[in-house]
Amino acid sequence: MKRIVITLLLSLVAGASAAQTPEPPGAKTMKTLLVYYSLTGKTEIVAQTLARELGADLRRVEDVNPPTVNWWFMVTAGFAAVRGAEAPIKPVDTSLQGYDRVFVGSPVWGGSPSTPINTFIARADFSGKAVIPFMTMGGDDAAGALRKMGERIEKKGGKIVGSFAFSTGKATNEELAARTRETAQRYR
Ligand SMILES: Cc1cc2nc3c(=O)[nH]c(=O)nc-3n(C[C@H](O)[C@H](O)[C@H](O)COP(=O)(O)O)c2cc1C
Repeated sequence: MKRIVITLLLSLVAGASAAQTPEPPGAKTMKTLLVYYSLTGKTEIVAQTLARELGADLRRVEDVNPPTVNWWFMVTAGFAAVRGAEAPIKPVDTSLQGYDRVFVGSPVWGGSPSTPINTFIARADFSGKAVIPFMTMGGDDAAGALRKMGERIEKKGGKIVGSFAFSTGKATNEELAARTRETAQRYR
């Protein structure tokens, strides 16, 4: 009888602790990091707005030597981006430990991700992370750039769970922030 009572009690305790096992994180409880590079401030508006909306941590990738944007830079940086090259960046924490979900943002350069964000991706380990690449662009087609960024992140172990892009050519900063707030709803 004593043994039956003990067995019963033990199975009750086991049942209770199983019920307390935490669920895998849903979007609301996910710890989210937002990493971005922005040369002229557009991707930064999206990144800052999104981080505020989602309560995410924000990490900025910066050039060692901030370039002057002129036609020569556009051509050389554009070609470098097409080749998938990396650019020197300031020291930045590349560890993604402790995060379930990572947004990675960049301007489109030459139909590709920017060279400084390539450097961050190359240095980070995305294993086990849900990743959402996002881009801003002067034109209206980021499909190729998003695909390239997604492939690079997948090579580093990440799982792409979404993506989005905004055209900044004609949008005011307020419009850009408003569109970002709207998009953030999808990732709550
Ligand atoms: C070097 C360079 C190359 C660019 N190449 C493209 C391009 O191929 N397609 C496009 O739509 N916009 C292109 N743009 C425009 C940027 O993607 C756009 O202005 C973006 O919103 C800038 O983001 P940022 O302010 O965060 O740097 C390029 C800009 C630079 C500086």
